[in-house]
Amino acid sequence: MAINGLFISFEGIDGAGKSTHLQALVQAFRAQGRAVTLTREPGGTVLAEKLRTLILNDAMDAMTEALLVFAARRDHLQQVIEPALARGEVVIADRFTDATFAYQGAGRGFDLKMLSTLEHWVQTVPALGIGLIRQPDLTVWFDLPAEIAALRLSGARMPDKFEAESTEFFRRVADGYQCRMVACPSRFARIDAKKAREAVWLDVLSAVQSRGWLE
Ligand code: TYD
Repeated sequence: MAINGLFISFEGIDGAGKSTHLQALVQAFRAQGRAVTLTREPGGTVLAEKLRTLILNDAMDAMTEALLVFAARRDHLQQVIEPALARGEVVIADRFTDATFAYQGAGRGFDLKMLSTLEHWVQTVPALGIGLIRQPDLTVWFDLPAEIAALRLSGARMPDKFEAESTEFFRRVADGYQCRMVACPSRFARIDAKKAREAVWLDVLSAVQSRGWLE
């Protein structure tokens, strides 16, 4: 019997602490015999990683940034995500399109309608049928107040272009994630990222277990 692929994304403002839990979730799936592709956005392919370097370091206007992010996403979907899902793998992505609506949309104030248009162009996958676009089956959103994230980030390595943004910017980004969740609540698991690391991990695990994807 063919195993269905599964697409899970992790989201949250910089400093929300998603990274440690990505690896743990990969291990949890592998321990139960599933093949897992762990990937990230922007990035995940040779071309998209080149675009990531530009997006994270070079100054550019919001539209250019949005177009580059979606160009990277297109290559990532074509080269990595769709083939892995077709093989029945679990794809775990450190960020996906919700980040674009949160950062370029809510954070930078870029036109949400145009982002929706790009989302439909880029994420249209013929195999899904007419009118359907590729979206994660589950988005784990690490929700953390921007003030706390700023404290966690201070003293960390040299900040990139986004990490150097103001607390006010990250407040808008967090609101952007909230809007995406409200628009599609069944896809999201909101995790209270203020909790201790172990408690956050248990919440991540239970979000996946409650959907019947892990024992
Ligand atoms: P991040 O995922 O935080 O990686 P790291 O842990 O290595 O810093 O960095 C990616 C950055 O890119 C993050 O600040 C959010 C930003 N980003 C966007 O602005 N738009 C997008 O569509 C995506 C995927 C990321």
